Amino acid sequence: MHTDTDTDTGTGTGTDTAPGYVHGYSRHEAHRLGDQADTLAALLHTGTAYPAGSRVLEVGCGVGAQTVHLVASSPGAHIVATDIAAASLARARARVAADTPGARVEWCHADVFGLPFADASFDHVFVCFVLEHLRAPGRALAGLRRVLRPGGTITVIEGDHGSAFFHPSSRYARAAIDRQIQLQSAAGGDALIGRRLQPLLAEAGYGDVVVRPRTVYADRTRPALVDGFTRNTFIAMVESVRDDALAAGLTNRSDWDRGIADLHRTAGDGGTFHYTFFKGVAVRS
Ligand SMILES: C[S@@+](CC[C@H](N)C(=O)[O-])C[C@H]1O[C@@H](n2cnc3c(N)ncnc32)[C@H](O)[C@@H]1O
Repeated sequence: MHTDTDTDTGTGTGTDTAPGYVHGYSRHEAHRLGDQADTLAALLHTGTAYPAGSRVLEVGCGVGAQTVHLVASSPGAHIVATDIAAASLARARARVAADTPGARVEWCHADVFGLPFADASFDHVFVCFVLEHLRAPGRALAGLRRVLRPGGTITVIEGDHGSAFFHPSSRYARAAIDRQIQLQSAAGGDALIGRRLQPLLAEAGYGDVVVRPRTVYADRTRPALVDGFTRNTFIAMVESVRDDALAAGLTNRSDWDRGIADLHRTAGDGGTFHYTFFKGVAVRS
């Protein structure tokens, strides 16, 4: 699924990945992922640091937007970063080489449902914004458990679009967000997966599961968050499904445009925006 008119730069084709991956692989999306990761780095990565010499698997690294933060927090760890999209992986490699020359990252083109690694070959696993795009997130977690050594940890970060609320309130803005949720669901994913992290991890056989909410709240007193999160991460993500929402007959141009305009009002003077991510950490027992 293309999200804008930029050149497509590669696709993932795993059968268990939501077909027509809702965010697409455009240059615009690569920028959005970068904005998202950089703006939210402190919020999402705080508490995640791996010891020197440990082997860390990052699954679904995309264009490396989180990888650069993993490298910064755990400079001595040996990171193996994987993605199903070869072109994204190439971008990730270039990003990490530019940002952190000399970083110890190994790149691997792989589907999370068929990881080419031996049992118990990693000390830690890191997964960010990937489960929400999979038809079978529980099976992915079970496969990741196989490659973790006993006592190793998994860290999973996901959003939940049901946690978005804002001022001024608008049913058109709400409806635009709901169209994104519907399209992701129709493609086999779940944009509301954050609230399911604890049961998903427990059912996949992990122990000591701890899930904590990490909340973003932006108003004019936090201009970096208004720009980096409300505008460039969240609204940009909703805006990107416009053509698909219209093509699917889920909305019409006038309602959609009003919804997007109203979302932008939440990033203007007097506007506020709230969203919660969920970060789960669990142990391979
Ligand atoms: C929203 S992006 C997140 C990228 C990165 N983790 C970040 O936070 O910036 C989701 C990524 O998951 C990858 N992905 C989707 N299905 C996958 C699968 N079955 N195996 C591996 N990666 C997959 C996509 O190619 C995409 O790069």
